[in-house]
Amino acid sequence: MLTIVLRFAHVGFGALWVGMMAFQVFFLMPALMDVGPDAGKVMGALMKRKMPVFMPIFGLITLVSGMWLFSRMSGGNIGALMQTAMGKAFGFGGLIALLAFLIGVIVMRPAMMRTAQLSESLPSTPPADRPAVQAELQKLRDRATLLGKVVMWMMLFTLAAMAVARYL
Ligand code: HEM
Repeated sequence: MLTIVLRFAHVGFGALWVGMMAFQVFFLMPALMDVGPDAGKVMGALMKRKMPVFMPIFGLITLVSGMWLFSRMSGGNIGALMQTAMGKAFGFGGLIALLAFLIGVIVMRPAMMRTAQLSESLPSTPPADRPAVQAELQKLRDRATLLGKVVMWMMLFTLAAMAVARYL
């Protein structure tokens, strides 16, 4: 029964986490770049709907259930599991997802929050200060774009590893 609950949580929240991230990186972020100044409003609305809270929670559930499944699968002998191709795929796939999560929470999330905050404050910023704020916004957007792609490819690697691990 515990295995079923763990697998349900793991695969379900894993799908939501990767899917939301892919939507964000491949569609939402480029679309926001296209619309220009109105992007700030969309970012603000996403913040209001607590997107930066839900995403890390989905990630955390995936990570914790994955590690739990991994330790149950190993029967207490992780060394022996890591000797097998399947163990390596689940193990390294999991490790990459953990790194992606840490980059997301420690670097990407604060950059997104700052972008939303600056974009919202832009209309009330004195005109003389606007170029500096806009330059900072551009820097933050460039960083978020690059990091978003790195994190996305890491998560796609994990997804691929998880999908085939059993059959290696
Ligand atoms: C992006 C994050 C992740 C996604 C999308 C994901 C996805 C999946 C999927 C779809 C499966 C089912 C594969 C199958 O049964 O053949 C699976 C199984 C598994 N995953 Fe992950 N996973 C992620 C992160 C992790 C992490 C961090 C670990 C930790 C080591 C992990 C460990 C496992 C294990 C051990 C299984 C096999 C469970 C079992 O059947 O007992 N996963 N994962």
